[in-house]
Amino acid sequence: MTTLFRLDASISIEGSHSRGLADVVEAEWTAAGSGDTVIRRDLGRAPLSATTWATAAFAGYTAPEARTAEQQQALAVAAELADELIAADAFLFAVPLYNFNVSSHFKAWVDTVLTDPRFAPGGEQVLAGRPTVLVTSRGGAYGEGTPRAGWDHATPWIQRILSDVWGLDVVTVEKEFTLVGVNPALDQFAELAAKMHAAAEADARAQGQALGARVSA
Ligand SMILES: Cc1cc2nc3c(=O)[nH]c(=O)nc-3n(C[C@H](O)[C@H](O)[C@H](O)COP(=O)(O)O)c2cc1C
Repeated sequence: MTTLFRLDASISIEGSHSRGLADVVEAEWTAAGSGDTVIRRDLGRAPLSATTWATAAFAGYTAPEARTAEQQQALAVAAELADELIAADAFLFAVPLYNFNVSSHFKAWVDTVLTDPRFAPGGEQVLAGRPTVLVTSRGGAYGEGTPRAGWDHATPWIQRILSDVWGLDVVTVEKEFTLVGVNPALDQFAELAAKMHAAAEADARAQGQALGARVSA
């Protein structure tokens, strides 16, 4: 049996599009019979303390015997986060776009993981090749030719970390125009948004099935 690590970063619970798509991926992974263990890290419900990362970062430059209790605690948090990742065979990250950039909760989580010696940049990639689905949701739309093409500064960074820094084998499921129906200024895009949402749902299902097939193979 295999283990899935699932991380959610939406600050919304009810009506969250990224959580909804991640539920689809997870359900398909479970249906594939690949495993029944899911390690959950919900940064929307339980963000890390804002000081953990900085404390852990400087603890790494401090001799072990000279570390304060606060530094030891921050390093213990980083080790717990790293343990959760290393224990998983497959990964599911659900991270929305906020203010044209990555969720600050997710950034703090990545920063903290990177302070654990097993994830030190430039070291061995302990997660190399493990299958991963990244789900992202955005209120607007940022495709080529749109007025704000290139304004999504989150997705490329998340992919950089997951794929290039950690060596995960990443596919990305994207849902755009989630604010259509919420923001009246976007009403003209209702038909397009409905098509995009259906496509995102279908993609989540397909990627969940592929994830299940890969880890159970
Ligand atoms: C504080 C905040 C900032 C946001 N900033 C952006 C943004 O810069 N661009 C955008 O397209 N959508 C933005 N959104 C909309 C979210 O990306 C959108 O609602 C998305 O669906 C959130 O993910 P969720 O549905 O999983 O909660 C923002 C939403 C919030 C709450």
